[in-house]
Amino acid sequence: MIHFRRPPSIMRSTLGLSWKWTALLCVLAVIVAFIPQAAAVKEHDFKKCHQSGFCKRNRAYADNAASQSSTWNSPYQVIPESPVLKDGQLHAIILKTINDKGETARFPITVSFLKSGVARVTVDEERRQKKDIELRHNSPVRKERYNEAEKWAIVGGLELDKQAQVAFQDKNQINIKYGPESKLEAVIKFAPLEAEFRRDGATHIKLNDRGFLNMEHWRPKVDKPEPKEGEEAPAETGEDESTWWDETFGGNTDTKPRGPESVALDVSFVGYEHVYGIPEHTGPMSLKQTRGGEGNFEEPYRMYNADVFEYILDSPMTLYGSIPFMQAHRKGSSVGVFWLNAAETWVDITKGKHSSNPLNLGPGGKTNTHTHWISESGVLDVFVFLGPTPRDLTQKYGELTGYTAMPQEFSIGYHQCRWNYISDDDVKDVDRKMDKFKIPYDVIWLDIEYTDDKKYFTWEPHSFADPIGMGKQLDNHGRKLVVIIDPHIKKVDGYSVNKELTSQDLAVHNKDDSIYEGWCWPGSSNWIDCFNPKAIEWWKSLYKYDAFKGTMENTFLWNDMNEPSVFNGPETTMPKDNIHHGQWEHRDIHNLNGLTFHNATFEALVSRKKGEKRRPFVLTRSFYSGSQRLGAMWTGDNQASWDHLAASIPMILNQGIAGFPYAGADVAGFFGNPEKDLIARWYQAGAFYPFFRGHAHIDARRREPYLLGEPYTAIVTAALRLRYSLLPSWYTAFFYANRDGSPIVRPMFWTHPEEESGFAIDDQMFVGSTGLLVKPIVDQDKESTDIWIPDDEVYYDYATYQTMSTKKGKHLTVKATIDQIPLLMRGGHIFPRRDIPRRSSTMMRFDDYTLVVSVSKSGSAEGELYVDDGDTFDNEQGQYIYRKFTLAGNKLSSADADGRYVKTIKAGKWLTDMHDVHVDRIIVVGAPSAWNKKEVDIESDGRSWKVKVEYHAAEKGRAAFAVVGRVGARIGQDWVIKA
Ligand code: NOJ
Repeated sequence: MIHFRRPPSIMRSTLGLSWKWTALLCVLAVIVAFIPQAAAVKEHDFKKCHQSGFCKRNRAYADNAASQSSTWNSPYQVIPESPVLKDGQLHAIILKTINDKGETARFPITVSFLKSGVARVTVDEERRQKKDIELRHNSPVRKERYNEAEKWAIVGGLELDKQAQVAFQDKNQINIKYGPESKLEAVIKFAPLEAEFRRDGATHIKLNDRGFLNMEHWRPKVDKPEPKEGEEAPAETGEDESTWWDETFGGNTDTKPRGPESVALDVSFVGYEHVYGIPEHTGPMSLKQTRGGEGNFEEPYRMYNADVFEYILDSPMTLYGSIPFMQAHRKGSSVGVFWLNAAETWVDITKGKHSSNPLNLGPGGKTNTHTHWISESGVLDVFVFLGPTPRDLTQKYGELTGYTAMPQEFSIGYHQCRWNYISDDDVKDVDRKMDKFKIPYDVIWLDIEYTDDKKYFTWEPHSFADPIGMGKQLDNHGRKLVVIIDPHIKKVDGYSVNKELTSQDLAVHNKDDSIYEGWCWPGSSNWIDCFNPKAIEWWKSLYKYDAFKGTMENTFLWNDMNEPSVFNGPETTMPKDNIHHGQWEHRDIHNLNGLTFHNATFEALVSRKKGEKRRPFVLTRSFYSGSQRLGAMWTGDNQASWDHLAASIPMILNQGIAGFPYAGADVAGFFGNPEKDLIARWYQAGAFYPFFRGHAHIDARRREPYLLGEPYTAIVTAALRLRYSLLPSWYTAFFYANRDGSPIVRPMFWTHPEEESGFAIDDQMFVGSTGLLVKPIVDQDKESTDIWIPDDEVYYDYATYQTMSTKKGKHLTVKATIDQIPLLMRGGHIFPRRDIPRRSSTMMRFDDYTLVVSVSKSGSAEGELYVDDGDTFDNEQGQYIYRKFTLAGNKLSSADADGRYVKTIKAGKWLTDMHDVHVDRIIVVGAPSAWNKKEVDIESDGRSWKVKVEYHAAEKGRAAFAVVGRVGARIGQDWVIKA
């Protein structure tokens, strides 16, 4: 992030100007003072693998193993007598030979076979487990390897498969059959340790088959005597210890009280050419190789959540969040691993054509993908997923880490943000102008300048003198306000929030256990430690309506800078030897930090008012596995450039398959001043981001849609209206993410796992299960694009109903002048819309629906609508409508998708109100001639009536279509139309 510093004091005018002018001048003065010294990313501010001791050591270890190939013996062996399988868990002891004398260190291993068919391999270090180590520098930290990542990331799916059984055992290996119908098998070879995971007899995943397993065991520091003056230092022998006990980078020295304790493992995907996941990175969705060579990266993918200022594209550099979940895919099979470790992690990827056992290659693939996972500390904890479909993976990963929370319905509308709206008047003015220009939006945002001197939970008294008045104006049209709260708490006298934080000992500590102080927006600050349950309780108290004055029911939250970003810290974050609750080092928990802050805010919103149970909305910048349960994320500080627009699509797709699909990028780029074409194209793309927010840097010119002028204001408004009309389909897509982890926007390999030519495609996507296929234009002056067609189904142009003559695997050229979005409807789907243009999603809540039926080649179609009150948790008590629409032959029908008998559901207020919401229009695209009539019969709720049909015969490539008008069937009830 921008690391401009706070001016010594905020100017306050004492001149005889009116207070409004004074306030405005103050704000302008602040803004000017805060203009950043812009600079491009300083790659050298962030470590490369060779600058990170443990990464360098493990890469060297791997190189050594690989160079010896057939003669290399991994020093890890299972004691052959040790394995015991009990109640779904295999326990054994690994011995690591640690020197030439044959001395060993003991590492207990547990392989848990889960009911879901996922296997979990956990390895700890006995000596550290027993706390039988000496800490350096009298450090007060814990002696064990960090083993609490599970506490934050995992919420279910751990039930053991007690039917798992030993299929074979001798002194060399043990084979365990497990999973549904015992189709899965783990083969653990003892010397050297190697694990193979098989499905239906074929090996898909191998652990340590290349012998890169490395758990740095504890050893005491042997202080070598300093050479006397005039004497030469003795030559270094053995391992390079230079970064074992401390390590300096960019002028910061990290002390390591527990010495080296990295954990690394190679994971091979046998017969798999594509791997996806491990966000957050720029670059293609199908991950690149990282060991050099043409078109490859030289560096491993890094996961160490960081505030990377002006990040670069097509890079394995770390970004703001991490999800160490990787999927491998080939025709007919998807498998994956989840590396549950919250410390700094690097992943090398290489691909090779050969295998030690060619017979192990699966039928579909000849390439193996080899990965090498390297973390700085913690236990080894890896989950193995054997698929076989991409859907199985996302579903099972979600079972473990949780599914996307059902969102506040307003939050899937459009969000208008900038750094900063400068006063409550400014906010009200933007709100009025959006109305004047008939531009729909749901939320306006306040960035850090709304606070009094960056003291969160306060308002700048002059420019935001009447936050409640502002909130009420927004509420008139059902709109919301989102305010930012960051985790750094200004250290200044008289600020009660800081006083409570420090006096109640709820802040992060330094390595000597005193309270840590660093530098961020407010200047000198302390950081809340959300690993501490007491800190969460305290945080909750700050959000009560009577504590955070000026907020009301329509105020929601934005958590930024939670990597955490520390301007004067190493790599712009906190020192690794800082200490958190439970005496864990920051090193151990770093990648979880953002999630814990997000979690505290989520909890705070749930408990804002006694008796008020509403879904929170909290946007986070930093995240980890599990963050999807808490809200949305965005891709941080991108740039207003075409290449950043293009990069946003694979990034968002990757979030989806990594279990955190509620994702978006700043529309039309955070830094810089986009040209109008770019703004228009970005809004057209943004209309297909699950999280859709316009945002801009404080330095950027104002660019609210109404300022653009024609034709751009109209183009942007049209994109927004498209988003709004499709909100019922988007909400239904969120419902699937919530129910089984399905991505909200879906890449081609996920929807069409058999179509090899689509596996690397990451610039087009399907919206949920609607069959809507979009490929946003991301290039300047481009007026057409080629959409890859994944199957032999019929496709229609969304706007014109043109039938696309196409075939599986073909690239279809679609015209898209600046006012057009390349958007197709796949035959065979039915999706819901709401077509009356309104100011906000709230104003649409009880509007009637339009159903669009996109008839397949074989004349059928199906689709769903899910809707609930979009605000409370009453959906969990059955207060929802979930319809399945089916076109079969000449019959179009609606039935409860859960098979519930809806009449028996006791309707609460919302469901009762929905009783008067109907299906208004049905548009049948590709309508068979049976629809060529004046009216059709409809039956519902024991009544039958006729409704009018307008039939348009096919002409000039446009499909035939029928519009059934004023249908009048209740949306929540069964009905049948016979054409
Ligand atoms: C960094 C965030 O990424 C950006 O969106 C925000 O505007 C600034 N911080 C100021 O809060």
